[in-house]
Amino acid sequence: MERTLKWGVPPVRRGLPSDAPALADRVVQQLQRSREFEPLLSATVRRRELSTALTHAIADTWVDESGGTLHGHLCARLLEDSSGELTAYSGPDAVSFESVGVLAHLLTQVQPSWRVRGALRHSVWTSLEDYRAWTGLGYEPVAVSLAREWMPHTRVTPPHDVSVRPALTSDLPVLRELDHEIDRAQGEEFDDSAEERLRELLEDPEVTYLVATLRDEVVAQVVTWDLGELVGYPRHTLHVSDLAVRREGRRLGVATYLISESVRRHPHPVRLVEARSRVSNAGAVAFWNRLGCRTLFVQVERALD
Ligand SMILES: CC(C)(COP(=O)(O)OP(=O)(O)OC[C@H]1O[C@@H](n2cnc3c(N)ncnc32)[C@H](O)[C@@H]1OP(=O)(O)O)[C@@H](O)C(=O)NCCC(=O)NCCS
Repeated sequence: MERTLKWGVPPVRRGLPSDAPALADRVVQQLQRSREFEPLLSATVRRRELSTALTHAIADTWVDESGGTLHGHLCARLLEDSSGELTAYSGPDAVSFESVGVLAHLLTQVQPSWRVRGALRHSVWTSLEDYRAWTGLGYEPVAVSLAREWMPHTRVTPPHDVSVRPALTSDLPVLRELDHEIDRAQGEEFDDSAEERLRELLEDPEVTYLVATLRDEVVAQVVTWDLGELVGYPRHTLHVSDLAVRREGRRLGVATYLISESVRRHPHPVRLVEARSRVSNAGAVAFWNRLGCRTLFVQVERALD
């Protein structure tokens, strides 16, 4: 009887709410393995909450159950990017696989369903441990999440004549210019909704928006917030976003000082400082590496056939 049931199950099938606890276990085991490679990663996950989150995403989840045993899972949310194209996105908790063969099998079975729904690309945040499995299947690295520990006593001397203060709505024209600098460096198109996004950041009580001034002129900005409980990151990780220094103010230590001030002004002790950059933005990657950051996750992408 049992054997007939197992044979009746197709090897790759849609996830069921009852799969969620086992998938949560797989995600935790995978994080524990990745942590052996990179100790900055966190494998501390509230299993019940992760299981609930996986249940909510179960309609977009597929599992490989060849031979009646769970070998892996794959989940993606289809989201529109700024150019209106649909991309299937998978975070670090959205995929698990026992071997590259299992991953390839899952992708072959699942990708056509994304394609039918109009998705053109698949984008995945993967640990360095699993990175080669993805590139072996034709995925290309596009961005990195880099981080370093930040000890409470870390102090950075301000560059000469540089001060830091909270950004104001009256700074918006120069904040927009700085935002363009980031788009240019990241190879992204200018976003018409930039000003609205910057205003929202200025008003968001959970966000710290700082500017650096050099002889009273705004020359740089940074936006930070606590990542909260995001799978793979330890608690009290400060996410650094929208970092930019005007050209004339670069290589003076302004960005380094802005980050140290963001940490100092954060209402809670900061354990990790984390940022994301396109891999093509060589200047930013060099800056983060020089700051002592290591790669925690790599974003890889592939066009869907
Ligand atoms: C990346 C950026 C924020 C760095 O700002 P900065 O104020 O010049 O950085 P710092 O002066 O604090 O740099 C500290 C160290 O990082 C390294 N570094 C910084 N920029 C670098 C670059 N373009 N190339 C190589 N190394 C660089 C250097 O080792 C530097 O020390 P040094 O000048 O004594 O050699 C700035 O270049 C910038 O605004 N770029 C465009 C926007 C952008 O890419 N933002 C980041 C998005 S993730």
